[in-house]
Amino acid sequence: MRDIFQLSRRRFLQNSAIAAAFASGVSRVEAQQDIINDNFIDTLLAKMTLEEKAGQLHMEGVLTPRMVQPNFQKINPFTPNFTPAQAQKLLDEQQHRIRQGAIGFMTSPEDVDSVILAQKTAVEETRLKIPLLFGADIIHGHKTVFPVPIAEAASFEPDLARRTARAAAKEVTADQGIDMTYAPMVDIARDQRWGRVVEGSGEDVLLGSLFAEARVRGFQNDDPAAPDSLLACVKHFAAYGAAESGLDYAGNGLSERVLHEVYLPPFDAAFRAGAIVTMAAFNTNDGVPSTGDPHLLTEILRQRMGFNGAVLSDFQSEKELVNHGYAKDDRDAARMALTAGCDIGMVSGIYPQYLPDLVRSGELDVRYLDQAVRRVLYIKKQAGLFDDPFRRINKTTSTLAPMLKQHRQLARESAQKSVVMLKNEQSLLPLSKAGQRIALIGPFGEDTDNLDGAWSPFVPAIPSVSLVDGIKNVLSNTSDLTIVKGSEITTAIDGGIHAAVVAAQHSDVVILAIGEAATMSGESSSRTNIVIPEAQQALAEAVAATGTPVIVILRNGRALALKGAVRDANAILVGWYLGTATGPALTDILFGDVAPSGRLPMSFPLESGQQPYYYARELSGRPPAADSKQHFTSHFLDIPNQPLYPFGHGLSYSEIEYSTTHCNKNTITKGESLLVSCYLQNRGGRTVFETAQLYLHDNAASVVQPVRKMIDFTRVKLLPGEKKKIQFTVDSSALSFLDRNLTTRLEAGAFTVWIAPSATAGEPAQFELK
Ligand code: BGC
Repeated sequence: MRDIFQLSRRRFLQNSAIAAAFASGVSRVEAQQDIINDNFIDTLLAKMTLEEKAGQLHMEGVLTPRMVQPNFQKINPFTPNFTPAQAQKLLDEQQHRIRQGAIGFMTSPEDVDSVILAQKTAVEETRLKIPLLFGADIIHGHKTVFPVPIAEAASFEPDLARRTARAAAKEVTADQGIDMTYAPMVDIARDQRWGRVVEGSGEDVLLGSLFAEARVRGFQNDDPAAPDSLLACVKHFAAYGAAESGLDYAGNGLSERVLHEVYLPPFDAAFRAGAIVTMAAFNTNDGVPSTGDPHLLTEILRQRMGFNGAVLSDFQSEKELVNHGYAKDDRDAARMALTAGCDIGMVSGIYPQYLPDLVRSGELDVRYLDQAVRRVLYIKKQAGLFDDPFRRINKTTSTLAPMLKQHRQLARESAQKSVVMLKNEQSLLPLSKAGQRIALIGPFGEDTDNLDGAWSPFVPAIPSVSLVDGIKNVLSNTSDLTIVKGSEITTAIDGGIHAAVVAAQHSDVVILAIGEAATMSGESSSRTNIVIPEAQQALAEAVAATGTPVIVILRNGRALALKGAVRDANAILVGWYLGTATGPALTDILFGDVAPSGRLPMSFPLESGQQPYYYARELSGRPPAADSKQHFTSHFLDIPNQPLYPFGHGLSYSEIEYSTTHCNKNTITKGESLLVSCYLQNRGGRTVFETAQLYLHDNAASVVQPVRKMIDFTRVKLLPGEKKKIQFTVDSSALSFLDRNLTTRLEAGAFTVWIAPSATAGEPAQFELK
């Protein structure tokens, strides 16, 4: 049966606002004057002393009253480990600073009591009664832990991310009294050595933009003032993901064109979705630290992109201008960061320390200070804090408990949709629940320490479920299961390999649970060699040598260069850090209750040395010859240029056949659109979801265009045997690009399109723009 349906065209969120011209010839302070025109804010501002103004621009870690208890267990790094007497002194000092109006923002509370104490002091005991705003890293869940962001991006279903962000916002506002999350992280990441790949949505601009938008909508629910909404602080502005060599905190030498074409669109998407806070990044761009860069934080962010919210530094990044060798001392750094456009300093304290005096001495125009305070008051107002400073502070858990059950189901759904099946030789998967002897081998089989990934600062409602518990739960007879750890994550276990080999020999199939510890990705966790650690690789080789079929389940926070027996396993599932529902979701897929549907949000390389690796590369003047290593072409001597698995790749439990790509016209003109279509046929016996991707190449342009770029995609349900036509509308505006003057250009000429299951597959079709 044929079912033709028209896909709604996805607005490609590129170029539009950010390519708009910006004012020139005005002094920087004039240029900074914002659209924020608000009587309430101006009246308040007029009453403030210089100290109170600088205080509003300072964020401090909130101390918990519990820290005076002798047996206090701290869970966050802002709470120092002191004796009760020292703790009391610190608390008193912080209370005093709040009373003075010397703090505007507080971060990362341990508990709701600390939020209540601090907020009461702010609104009852300060001169102007300005409420505090509380922030925290609510990255992928709170009481319920959802898959890490890179995993969720593999769903290619932005609305899933909206729903999990919504759930996280509801949980944390019902529980902890937080007003703002330092999320989403929207950094495009094309170098898998960088550990923070795990926090974003991968290498692709369109995918990253759609997930950025979805997550902001989830956190803010289009009403940032609502008691169950979180302000989204979009991070890290900008191009933090372009760190040279993938080394965290390193700078980049990006051209302004690439910055605009690749790294800014997800921010633009987030701002259009309503985000009014962004975090300045740690890195330099073209020699200038983001946090002290007026071109980035004022000209690009505010004047070009039209952002009128507030900029928060990233954990002392304003003070780090000194470390960069950009400011001569802290005082200089405070002045430079503020005038660049960084409104709030996270935890360093240099704003309250130096800004008042800088104004008094005439080194700083007070208008910079006023401007930043105006923005800060604006976001507090938008968050609804002037109406009710306690709107997100709820001491009872009565509203939390009922939502947790529903969220647990969402955790399972999102985990299922995050898993990517890379290969499945001879349909080894799915396994049957009875009559098969299974050996579960590897350090991640029973592991419970590495289920949640790098960002889970709070204590979840229930412990996340391990892989082994998931499996045991569905097997008809648990005596069919043998469990052997075999090795630790990075070190061998005495006799471990022998035990694993024996287990494999006595089993019909091996599930090999291997990968990276949660601490091997995330902040400050770059790796040069993005492979399975040696001890586990040795385990994999020995197990494979038994001849028993092997299913690899990866636990990973980045793309890995898979080698030897791991690469050659009969089946491979990318399992990431899936959080609360890890075991049940992986089990659903292993035993076929759910068919895998995830797609790689970044390419899996052949070798670490290919990094940075991404599909949307420029064509070389000397492209590599198809199957040869011809001299004087762009190739490595030792390996092909291809990835092991490309962006967009992912299999399911049915084979899906793509027909050739068809364009309904050979030619279009500016303002017109064309329809690009193909047929998908489910050749298997299962209902599955297929993600068809539309790629474009501009055959000749005045700025060399990527070999392909994804301009649309759709997730289609296909019943057994079903054949469906899918159709994308391509508007002529989707053919434009930024030139070196950052102007959007639409150039006549030939274009190639593919509807494909990945960035390297599909049959091309051509059309022309006249
Ligand atoms: C990270 C941010 C994070 C902040 C607060 C920084 O080190 O770069 O992403 O939001 O800490 O925890």
